[in-house]
Amino acid sequence: MKPPEQIETERLVLRIPSLADTGAIFNSYAQDTEVLRYLTWRPHQNIQETEGFLVGCIIAWDGDARFPYVITLRESGEVIGMIEIRINVYKADAGYVLSRQHWGKGIATEALCSLVEWALRQASIYRVWALCDVDNLASAGVLEKVGMEREGLLRRQIVHPNISDEPRDCYCYAAVK
Ligand SMILES: CC(C)(COP(=O)(O)OP(=O)(O)OC[C@H]1O[C@@H](n2cnc3c(N)ncnc32)[C@H](O)[C@@H]1OP(=O)(O)O)[C@@H](O)C(=O)NCCC(=O)NCCS
Repeated sequence: MKPPEQIETERLVLRIPSLADTGAIFNSYAQDTEVLRYLTWRPHQNIQETEGFLVGCIIAWDGDARFPYVITLRESGEVIGMIEIRINVYKADAGYVLSRQHWGKGIATEALCSLVEWALRQASIYRVWALCDVDNLASAGVLEKVGMEREGLLRRQIVHPNISDEPRDCYCYAAVK
């Protein structure tokens, strides 16, 4: 099963990434350590690294596990972040990132909501879930606003290398039907 290649919301278009998005992603957030603080990857050192990452995102759409989208503004087409949904039989999980200048406007909530709604409309998907670092208040806020419940604390679950090399505690959130 694959999610739609393009999803439109009130302010956004989520679409399959293209190599033409490389510059926008490299320049807007892929080098920004504040944006990457609670993510699993280190800042990109050069634009080739961003290009390689996007090649992987594009190829992923040929498979059946991982579906990354660029988040663009509907009005201007500007690329402002990425969101991805990973489908594993009867459950799906999501991750997302936005460039800093677009934080605090409900954009991640709007983008994630569209994917959560799509997932739970599928007869075979019963659970949509996500993890976030215990200190990532913004992400926890997004997960709560899309209707997920905090299910628990996973101790020493994930390494966020821009904070430290030690695995950190994170919360698990989910919405089920
Ligand atoms: C996490 C992130 C995507 C949030 O995006 P956003 O569009 O700014 O989030 P929203 O505006 O939809 O916020 C939803 C809710 O989260 C909470 N929230 C948002 N930013 C917050 C902050 N800095 N501190 C505390 N709560 C915050 C609020 O409750 C907010 O709802 P409200 O505006 O109605 O009060 C963005 O901060 C980001 O890209 N961070 C870096 C990457 C990252 O951490 N990704 C998630 C990994 S799990």
